[in-house]
Amino acid sequence: MNTPLIYQKDAQLDLTIDYYHASTLPPSLVDWTFQLTKKIFIIFTESGKKAELQAPEARYLVARSTQDTTDLKGFLMFQMVQEETMDDDYMAEVAYCYELQLVEAARNQGLGEYLMGLLFQIGHHWKMEKVMLTVFKDNKGAMRFYTKKIGFKLDEISPGACLSPRKARKFDYEILSKPC
Ligand SMILES: CC(C)(COP(=O)(O)OP(=O)(O)OC[C@H]1O[C@@H](n2cnc3c(N)ncnc32)[C@H](O)[C@@H]1OP(=O)(O)O)[C@@H](O)C(=O)NCCC(=O)NCCS
Repeated sequence: MNTPLIYQKDAQLDLTIDYYHASTLPPSLVDWTFQLTKKIFIIFTESGKKAELQAPEARYLVARSTQDTTDLKGFLMFQMVQEETMDDDYMAEVAYCYELQLVEAARNQGLGEYLMGLLFQIGHHWKMEKVMLTVFKDNKGAMRFYTKKIGFKLDEISPGACLSPRKARKFDYEILSKPC
């Protein structure tokens, strides 16, 4: 993929998207991605979340203002992984979205959809079967965004798909996926 990409919706949202490996992500961005994630979600173990964000396999798409490069708008962190399926003998090749976080001022203007679209293109390029992610059930906005806007469905291994309703209720998350 050639970088940077330019995403220009209107004068208010004139963005540059940079692509990084965990090893090339500048320390200031390592800190920013952690702080943004922490601001939005309760993180139960800081060291665990930091380790996840800095895993060697982690890849980042970072959106910033084209005019003011210090004005960061959001990021998507993904990894190419093998995920279990309902077939014990088969692992699926997956582009897994671990984080998609936008600063408040950049939400609801199509940036989330654009970054997700880039992940689908990357996944397709690398011949992944699907894009996958985990979403907390009480994050109703994100659930609506992924299912209604992007078209994700419950993956076959999601609690809501593979367990009885009574058992699925005990889980506070669902796993969503969509073919690349
Ligand atoms: C969820 C998120 C990534 C979506 O990105 P976005 O750029 O705001 O979304 P888009 O502008 O592309 O799409 C907006 C659509 O998603 C839905 N949506 C997104 N956030 C929503 C919210 N908080 N409440 C209700 N609906 C929401 C709306 O249905 C909206 O649909 P519309 O365009 O028909 O009005 C972004 O809002 C965000 O960073 N939220 C906080 C962090 C988070 O929850 N991340 C997901 C973790 S799994």
